[in-house]
Amino acid sequence: MPRKISTATVRADFNDPLAVVHYARAAHFLGLWASELALIQRFFPDKSGPLLEAGCGAGRATIGLWDQGYRALTAFDFASELLNQARQLANDRGASAIKFVHADATAAATSTLLGYKARRPAPFAGAFFLFNGLMQIPRRAKRRAALRMLHRVCRPDAPFLFTTHDRDGSPTERALWRLEAGRWERGEQDSRLHEFGDRYFEEAGTGRTFMHLPDRAEILADLVATGWTPVFDAMRREIARESAAVRDFSDECRFWVARRN
Ligand SMILES: C[S@@+](CC[C@H](N)C(=O)[O-])C[C@H]1O[C@@H](n2cnc3c(N)ncnc32)[C@H](O)[C@@H]1O
Repeated sequence: MPRKISTATVRADFNDPLAVVHYARAAHFLGLWASELALIQRFFPDKSGPLLEAGCGAGRATIGLWDQGYRALTAFDFASELLNQARQLANDRGASAIKFVHADATAAATSTLLGYKARRPAPFAGAFFLFNGLMQIPRRAKRRAALRMLHRVCRPDAPFLFTTHDRDGSPTERALWRLEAGRWERGEQDSRLHEFGDRYFEEAGTGRTFMHLPDRAEILADLVATGWTPVFDAMRREIARESAAVRDFSDECRFWVARRN
């Protein structure tokens, strides 16, 4: 029986040279998406507040935030090869003040690595987990652990911006997921997957990808269970029209903003 997808599988896939080139190219040439920028301007008006990006990859969004004038930035990722790319690009772009940390969003020690200290104010005034990184954590319990960790390191009322896919995002998606539900009912799903909504696939130019595709109710429940109040969500197409380059790099997603309780 094939082994279940683990954190180690996902990390190895992101450290694969194919993925490293893919995300490094996006960090060099794409920067922030129009939809990301619109929501950052709306929900993160204070450019001096300390902000955290989880799953920063090769630095596409963090360095994009720096270019927008945000100056107190910390970014972490568990894929060391991507993080090396992010550090290098930040140095090249005069953004070496960005603090990069090698850490796993689901690990118990990560909040301490990010500066959390008991009985002290939490370090961050806002957080990001962009381009579906949260959904690349296998198992719902682990995704909730990551949400709890971000809750621990953020101050009350801090905004948290992230994206997911949406199984109900289009009629085609709904039809495909009805077929997949049938496979799970018959026990015929890919045995490496943990939960309905999981996918593990390979694409030319990107490599192997694990992704959990939730429905809206699942994310609302996860936020509430981990100390976050959902305040906004919308499909990307409802927020901004993206360039062909961005649409080529990334498919449609749902944006979420929650506030720390
Ligand atoms: C789709 S990539 C997005 C990278 C970057 N934010 C961007 O938009 O180009 C998702 C990122 O999340 C990171 N990631 C996934 N699971 C993680 C975890 N448990 N802890 C830290 N980083 C994680 C991956 O290494 C990868 O860099």
